Amino acid sequence: MKVVYTILASLFAVSLLWTCKPDEVIGEERVPHLPAEVYRYYDTTAIQGLFFDPYNDSVINDHIATLGRVLFYDTRLSRNNRVSCGTCHRQATGFTDNFVHSLGFEFLPAERNTQGIVNTGTQIGFFWDLREQLLDHMVLQPIANHIEMGIDDEAYMISKVEDAAYYKPLFTNAFGSEEVTSHRMGIAMAQFVRSIISYRTKFDEGRSQVSHPTMTFPNYTEEENLGRHLFFFKFPCSTCHGGPNLDGSLTFAQNIGLDEHYSDPGVIGMFNETTPLNGWFKTPPLRNIALTAPYMHDGRFQTLEEVVEFYNSGIQYHPQLSQTLRTHDNGGLFNLGPSIPPEHHVVINGTMPLRMFMTDAEKNALIAFMRTLTDYELMQDPKFSDPFVAKGQ
Ligand code: HEC
Ligand code: HEC
Repeated sequence: MKVVYTILASLFAVSLLWTCKPDEVIGEERVPHLPAEVYRYYDTTAIQGLFFDPYNDSVINDHIATLGRVLFYDTRLSRNNRVSCGTCHRQATGFTDNFVHSLGFEFLPAERNTQGIVNTGTQIGFFWDLREQLLDHMVLQPIANHIEMGIDDEAYMISKVEDAAYYKPLFTNAFGSEEVTSHRMGIAMAQFVRSIISYRTKFDEGRSQVSHPTMTFPNYTEEENLGRHLFFFKFPCSTCHGGPNLDGSLTFAQNIGLDEHYSDPGVIGMFNETTPLNGWFKTPPLRNIALTAPYMHDGRFQTLEEVVEFYNSGIQYHPQLSQTLRTHDNGGLFNLGPSIPPEHHVVINGTMPLRMFMTDAEKNALIAFMRTLTDYELMQDPKFSDPFVAKGQ
């Protein structure tokens, strides 16, 4: 009998161990593993001679960015310690995830598709509706957002950071004292975010090998060069996705005719216009685009093929459709082939959408070109990785 009891008791003990194990892991304090010497987040030698300045003159302090990295990946900044910025903005996929709607701290879906993060120092506004211009302010908003991280009480946010011993030396190195303020947190996360620069793509290599951007890139395949030509010269893509990030730094937001009626109005009241803007969204950078599916503010397209087919044949009639995406005889800037058949001549407030009449070879070439915009080194650079996971980094 005694033996049976002993066996039962030990079985019970073993089962306790089994059930305890996951709790132990959850309860274990997460601490960041940082390198003995800080990484160089502000590497001006690396970008010397480049055709553009990815920092855009902003100066980054390596200690401040290191603090920013820890904050960026710290799940403590969510109400239930479940998500960090890095949960939705994952390094391996261009600092986004591949969900249509990322899930916040309580598993509720974010309202729009998560944007990638790249060369933010060179951009003029943030979020799909460009509602924030200052990165130092912008980076605090996801913490307060009731769906994303859920801490809208500043004092509580600060106390959570103060409670973690590992922040004391990080704040001291960054700002000269241990004091935690939301202002300091904003500066630190913004500097880390701004340090996420991309300049090592096949596109950048090719661009640095020619004296003028219109020249054939020697490092490109024939198809990639064709795609680049189509993107910049034949089709209207670069009138909006221009500049070194292939984004809308110069053209701001646009209505590209995704829908006849937008359920999400996008940009609201930016220019004191008399008619409210409707369906205007940030023209996103196309750097790392091959990794950041699904696409558009609502993640409606799963592949680049679908995006290209949309521009080719799917642009919808909308009174505020961008001028570059209207037919030529409707004030559009591009004239791309046969006229629209009369039965499709539906004109709403003077706009008709452009049809691009792309061949299959042209569609494939455009996609091949967009694939040259991926920065594989950035995706693996340890200084941007999650310090709570990467031991010794
Ligand atoms: C639950 C997922 C989620 C979390 C957590 C999250 N984000 Fe985001 N992020 C998004 C979504 C969705 C958008 C687009 C929101 C919009 O346009 O309204 C976005 C947009 C951004 C942008 C704008 C990029 C651009 O090109 O305009 C930046 C920068 C950013 N987030 C940084 C952060 C930082 C810093 C944190 C942590 C403090 C964070 N995010 C936490 C989902 C998330
Ligand atoms: C009139 C300006 C304009 C033109 C022209 C234009 N785009 Fe866009 N593009 C945008 C805007 C604005 C968005 C985001 C729209 C949204 O989400 O509502 C976008 C989104 C995209 C996306 C998805 C980006 C993401 O992060 O989800 C890709 C890819 C893209 N465009 C490629 C192209 C290609 C290829 C062409 C040429 C055939 C082109 N664009 C022409 C303005 C433009």
